[in-house]
Amino acid sequence: MIEPVYSPSPSRYDAMEYRRSGRSGVKIPVLALGLWHNFGSHKPLRDIQAMAHYAFDKGICHFDLANNYGPEYGTAEENFGLLMERSFRPYRDEMLISTKAGWDMWPGPYGNWGSRKYLMASLDQSLRRMKLDYVDVFYSHRWDPETPLEETMQALVDIVRQGKALYVGLSRYPAEQARVAYRYLAAHDVPCLLYQDRYNIIDRVPQCSGLIDLCEESGTGFISFSPLQQGLLTGRYLNGVPADSRMAKGVFLKEEMLTPTMMEALHGLNALAQKRGQSFAQMALSWLLQDSRVCSVIIGASSVAQMEDNLKSLDNLAFSQEELRLIDSLSAPVQLR
Ligand SMILES: NC(=O)c1ccc[n+]([C@@H]2O[C@H](COP(=O)([O-])OP(=O)(O)OC[C@H]3O[C@@H](n4cnc5c(N)ncnc54)[C@H](OP(=O)(O)O)[C@@H]3O)[C@@H](O)[C@H]2O)c1
Repeated sequence: MIEPVYSPSPSRYDAMEYRRSGRSGVKIPVLALGLWHNFGSHKPLRDIQAMAHYAFDKGICHFDLANNYGPEYGTAEENFGLLMERSFRPYRDEMLISTKAGWDMWPGPYGNWGSRKYLMASLDQSLRRMKLDYVDVFYSHRWDPETPLEETMQALVDIVRQGKALYVGLSRYPAEQARVAYRYLAAHDVPCLLYQDRYNIIDRVPQCSGLIDLCEESGTGFISFSPLQQGLLTGRYLNGVPADSRMAKGVFLKEEMLTPTMMEALHGLNALAQKRGQSFAQMALSWLLQDSRVCSVIIGASSVAQMEDNLKSLDNLAFSQEELRLIDSLSAPVQLR
């Protein structure tokens, strides 16, 4: 008999916490793995495989993708498809896989935003790249101010009816549009499973704008992305900009962010994390997860060592009122939005 290439850890569900997504029947690991930056064609498949297997072995069974994750666009999905073929296929029913469409993907008027034409075609392409029959969650990646909301929502409804996605989600919709969208989807018996937005210690817009409360009211799970603000809320930039870091690439995370005020805040937060017996990254993740309204946070990691560090955040989710107040005051001068 041929030995399977990958045999997941039998204890993979022992230490992970799973939270119910809104009022759905689905539970989601509090840490999910996002494939935005570190799973594209630039990364050796062996490293990608090591991170994905490590995640699954630790109960991180939710993998978050989008059509344009890479770089190059589409290559994170292609690499995920290779993993499906090589190792993950027997475990497909243990996995919650999401993808999205909404940002620029191909040239011309049908490869961007929120039309039915784009969403339907993009999901078909994503399924082919990932070698899947269906995804668990298909997201509208952003609100399109020019396409009628009803068209985008009806496309999501029809995608579920076609069996190409089991659930739908929204990402980065303003509260007003999210409210209307939730109503539309619920009225068509496809309640929104997840709402995805950037939320972390220095970006509290989903909290301040009422989006998190709206999720709770609507029975939709709230899931945070960039919980570490792309690495800023870790020890990575406390003593300069490492050559292999996301900031050194200078595309999505810019060195200009490291102002004296920001550095003071980062050092203060890091000192508090040390006092709590945590790494900075661990404290940033624990801070999100101490709020039971946050269903899950999507981490992006560039190595297994970072994932190992991040997983330890689950060991200490309790904060004293004083610690929470200190985090608020240290981060107040550097809130991003
Ligand atoms: N819906 C949307 O519009 C949207 C937008 C953005 C992201 N997302 C989703 O959210 C996921 C996560 O986003 P993100 O990658 O920005 O998340 P993040 O967790 O805030 O940042 C990940 C980066 O932080 C650094 N890092 C992670 N753990 C670390 C540790 N323990 N110590 C030191 N550095 C650490 C790494 O940077 P280095 O690479 O420098 O090592 C890593 O690439 C994405 O993959 C995607 O699935 C969704």
